[in-house]
Formats: sequence, C-alpha cells, structure tokens
Amino acid sequence: MIMGRGLVNRLLALVASLVALAGAPAARAEDGYDLWLRYAPLQGEALARARALPLVVHAGRDPTVALAGAELVRGLARLRGEADRRGVVVTADRLARPLPPGSLSLDCQDSSVPLGGAFAVKPANGGVRISAGEPIGCLYGAFALLRELSLGRDPATIDLAEQPAMPLRMLDHWDNPDGSVERGYSGRSIFNWWTLPEHLDQRLIDYARANASIGINGAVVNNVNASPVFLTDRYIPKLARVAEAWRPYGIRLYIAARFSAPKDVGGLPTADPLDPAVQAWWKARADALYAAIPDFGGFLVKANSEGEPGPQDYGRTHADGANMLARAVGNRGVVIWRAFVYSSGDSTDRATDAYNEFVPLDGRFDANVILQVKNGPVDFQPREPFHPLFGAMPHTRLMLEGQITKEYLGQATHLVYLAPLWKEVLDANTGRGGTVAQAIAPAGMAGVANTGSDRNWSGSHFNQANWYAFGRLAWDPGLSNERIAREWAAQTFSRDPRFLDKVVPMMIASRQALVDYMTPLGLAHQMATGHHYGPGPWICDLKRPEWNPCYYSRADKNGIGFDRTPSGSNALAQYAPSVAAAWSDPKTIDEDYLLWFHHVPWTFRTKSGRPLWNELVSRYDRGVATVDAMAQIWRSLEPYADAERYADTADFLRIQSREARWWRDASLAYWQSLNGLKLPVGTRPLEHPLDYYQSLSFPEGPGG
Ligand code: GCU
Repeated sequence: MIMGRGLVNRLLALVASLVALAGAPAARAEDGYDLWLRYAPLQGEALARARALPLVVHAGRDPTVALAGAELVRGLARLRGEADRRGVVVTADRLARPLPPGSLSLDCQDSSVPLGGAFAVKPANGGVRISAGEPIGCLYGAFALLRELSLGRDPATIDLAEQPAMPLRMLDHWDNPDGSVERGYSGRSIFNWWTLPEHLDQRLIDYARANASIGINGAVVNNVNASPVFLTDRYIPKLARVAEAWRPYGIRLYIAARFSAPKDVGGLPTADPLDPAVQAWWKARADALYAAIPDFGGFLVKANSEGEPGPQDYGRTHADGANMLARAVGNRGVVIWRAFVYSSGDSTDRATDAYNEFVPLDGRFDANVILQVKNGPVDFQPREPFHPLFGAMPHTRLMLEGQITKEYLGQATHLVYLAPLWKEVLDANTGRGGTVAQAIAPAGMAGVANTGSDRNWSGSHFNQANWYAFGRLAWDPGLSNERIAREWAAQTFSRDPRFLDKVVPMMIASRQALVDYMTPLGLAHQMATGHHYGPGPWICDLKRPEWNPCYYSRADKNGIGFDRTPSGSNALAQYAPSVAAAWSDPKTIDEDYLLWFHHVPWTFRTKSGRPLWNELVSRYDRGVATVDAMAQIWRSLEPYADAERYADTADFLRIQSREARWWRDASLAYWQSLNGLKLPVGTRPLEHPLDYYQSLSFPEGPGG
C-alpha cells in the first residue's frame, strides 16, 4: 500500500481546518491505567438512553456470567456519570418469566447461538437482551454492548450477532522469571512469580479483564527463550493461581517450554524426543500441570532457533520434537511450535530458511500441533511481504505471530498504529486458495505483548491502541483500520467527532510514516544491532552475517536492494506463481516491496519518474514531514485530552520528530558514502557527517 502523495498535505489541511474548540469538554488528568475501559460519562440523549437501562438480570450462578453482569453494572454506572454503582444485578434461576420492561438481560444458555464465544445483542422488551450459548459468549456480549453504548449508540438500534473468526486469540509474553521482559518497553513484567502463589497482583485481574473485553482468550506467560523453571514443581501452584484468576475471563494459560528441560531440571542425560525416558518425563510434567490447571492451554516452543535447544540437537526433526510434546499433552491442549528458524549464516538468504525447513514436514505434525509463523519471513520489520509459509502447508494448522511490542518500530516513544501492518498481511492473497486470514482461521493469531508494569501498561498511551487492535483483528480480521482506531480513540480519549476526525487519520498515517523515515521502498533491518532502535545501516562486522544491516540492504557504489529473483536467492519462488509474478519485475512491483525483492541501480527509474536515489530521499523526507504533521495535529487536540496524557503524547511526538530526522540523515549519509551522489536540489542538507552518527551510543537506551 502506498500512501497517497498528498497525504502530508491532507494531514496539514486537517490541522488548518480545525474548528474553534470552544465547548470541548474539560478533561480530568488521567494516567492511562483504565485503557479503553474508561466508560467516560455520556452526554445528552445518549446519557438519557443509558439511564433508561436500570436493571441487569442474568440466569445462573456461573462466575463468568456474574462477571458479565458486574461489568454491565459498573460500565453503565460510569457511562451514566454515577459515582457509585447503583445498578442492580438480579440473579434469576431462569429467564423464562417475564422481565421488567426496559431491563438488560443475559441469557447464557441459548442453544441457538453457537459455542466458542459467539453472542447476540438485540433490543428486547424495551431493553436489551444479550444471548449466548455459554457464559463466555455473555461476557463478550456484555463488553460489546458497553462498547456500543460508549460510542454513543442508541440501545434500541444495537443489533449484533458475532462470533470469533479464529479459535486461538493469544498474547505471548516474553517475560523472564526475574521480572525483566525481552523486547519490553513498558517497565517490568506484570507477573511477580516471587510473591505467587500467595499474592496475586490486582493488575493480573485487570489484565484479564482488558483482554476479555477484546476477545483475547489465551496467554503464554513466559519468554520463548524459555527458562526451564516454569516446568518445575515449585512453579505449578504459581501458575495455577494465575490460571484460576483468569478462568472467569476466559483466558487460558500456556507456558513456553524449554526443549532441553528434561536435562536442565529433570535429571535426565538427554532431551532426545525419541528417548522413552524423555517422553515419559514430558508426559508426567503435562499430567502434573493438568492436575493443577484442568484447562491448561499447552506449550509454546522455540526450538533450534537463535541458539535455543531443539530436536535437531539429536538429529531429529521439528515434527519429531513437536509430536513428542503433543502426545504428552494429548487432547487436553495444544503444542504451538514456532517456525522462526534460520540457519547460522550458511544459507544464501535468511528469508528462505523457515520455508525450506518446514514445507517438507507438511502432513507430519500431529493434529494438536500448531505452527506459529511470524507475519513476514525475516523478523517483525516495519514492512515485510507476508510469510511464504502461509498457504504453503495445507495439511498443517498455521497461526500468525505478530509483534505488538514495537521492537523495530520505535518501541515506546514513536507513535505507530499497527493495525495497517497486520491488515496488510491478513488481507494478502497467498495465491494458494485465499487470504492469510483464511489460512489461519482454523488456528489463530498470537501477538507478542507490549504490557508491562508501567502505569499506562504499554509504555505510551498510543501503544495501547496496538493491544486493542490486535485483539479486535483476531476476533474479526475484516474490521477496518479506521473503525478500530475510531473505536479505540473514542473509548480511550474522547468521543467528540472533532477529535476523532483528526486523530484517526493521524493514527492511520503513522505506520507508513515510520516505514518512510526508517526503511523506505522495501528496505529492512537497518536498525542498529542490539537495541534495534536507531539507524545502523553501516553495520557489517557481526559474526552472523544475517544480523548485519548491510546483509539486508546489499548497498554498494552501484545500487541497493536484495536480489530475491532467480538471479539472486530466488526467495520469490517460495510464493505462489501469481504472487511471484506480481513481484518479479522491478518496473511493475508495488514499490513498497521494491528493494525487498530487487537489487537496482541508484539510477533506476521509479514509477514517479524519478531515479531511485531521488525517490529514496523523497520517501525519507515524506516520513519526516508526516511525523511533523502528526505532532501539529496532536497539539491542536489538546482541549480534548486530559493534561497528563496530552503532555505525555506531545513529548513523545517531539522525540519522534527529532528521531525521524536522525533516521533520515544517518541513512542518507551512509548511502552517500557508498554512491557518492549529491542530495537532489532543494532537499534539506544533512545535519551531521556520517562519522557523527556512527559514533553515537546509548547507555541509557532500552537495550536488547
Ligand atoms: C527477535 C528478537 C529476539 C527474539 C526473537 C524471537 O529476533 O530480537 O529478542 O527472541 O525475535 O522471536 O524468538
């Protein structure tokens, strides 16, 4: 997707057209802890309508149904601007008897509604009725109704019938037992294993509630670079306490399992998956976990990847390893096996490794194994083409792994709304019978979580939108980027259309802006090593070649880009013929992928008519200009946000404006050192010479 040329101008026009802000509601300071579940008081007619829904009635004593009732009472009270919770929850044995007109009722045993979280919300008897085939559907229905009311909808017109698009909608935490978080930019881990099982932090309940409100139904609590301690007896009561707290919210607990655990903590001499003692050890571990946690979700495994142990250590395949664990789990849960593998520098193209390793194994995985595939073939870059494994393993269930924490996308400080990135992948046609969303529908989506101990959960207020968007897209990949942004911004900040009409386009533009100022035209992995935050395109001396930015740019005196056509690595051949055909010619390819697939001379004529060099410069400039426009828009929205969240966001946008320039100038300085070309006439000169950018180091930065 190429953002329209005039986008920056359009954004600036939005600022210019901003109407006088008199009358915008005064906002109290907020710290962001409430996320999108603030339920700010309604006004006018919407308020009157909410006040007419006084009574919540539900059937049965199930804890999840009780939560749904309590959520409605709490949410309605807040929407009605009532400080106390004056709503009434009536637990009826059956809903058959006539209900008071105008009441809000929950029927959670309605056999006409499918299982799996589906619900219907319809006007009934002057009020609203939520129906579902099981309790979790009622909880999802309650959150959906509150969302609609929160957006100002008239209950009499609310008519929803929804069911999730995929069964697994998960968050993966890269949290370590010591409380650190790999690639976490939001403080410490939300899990305090030290004080568990006796003490469970309220934050873990609030977390489950937030997840349930967007349909997330599973969480892996520890890092894929896994500590074996999670498989010890000592951890079982800790895990059980968390699982118990999450159960009413429909969140199943999973752990990342270290493949060498039988050796590390089991006292065995080997972790060979074909060794009967190893198989028995895992079976006993699974049995112990299920004894304590009957709905334990299963194991997530990173094997033979980036130095992690795996079945290949014993000459076995990924299928041998995954199936051994799958048999230990049995029909009680799943084994999620990651496809994020790349061989140690001995392949011509890292982007081809996972496909080469896994496609031959199609059909050899047990039914309860799911292969978890990152959205693109390298590693959570600002833009990658979809992973060629999607659609290529018809006999294996594949789920998509996205990264909510923005490791390569400016982390906590840069404002980047990620729905457009995920949508681009979900909507991509694999050329093998459907879209990526269709390919993963039998399994699901996992997002690497961006939650932490920061008061605002996600390191920045706008990063909350990515948690929200991930859940909403896993529920329904058909939702538009605009709709999700609008829902989120209305609930999180202000439902005033004068605010929403500005903030939504700003969010939508943010991802392309970052692509432009970091890695335009299909470049990737130009971030400095370790922290992955700032620019490091010159880095070329790391032991593993595929960790070097220069490996990805392939830039030299004559040209730039990674040749993945038949004259290069031929990664293109891993895609269906129709897709490969669309990307095979540098003159016709969508230029967002140009340098991903093609090595072209600096003089190559792009679609704009400009030589590649000039086009590249203009993309960096467009990125910088868009960020400046975003900052200007945000300044114009001050009256709609509370002081604290307004200032936090304005500060971070200032950082982003400065750093977009840093990215542009450092990158261009390096490219110039190779190609000797001058900046096109009229472009802003670079602020510093290349060696300045190369000399920077950041002991205070977030690190690796
Ligand atoms: C990236 C990230 C690592 C992480 C890895 C993974 O490479 O930088 O920190 O462990 O992905 O997904 O396993």
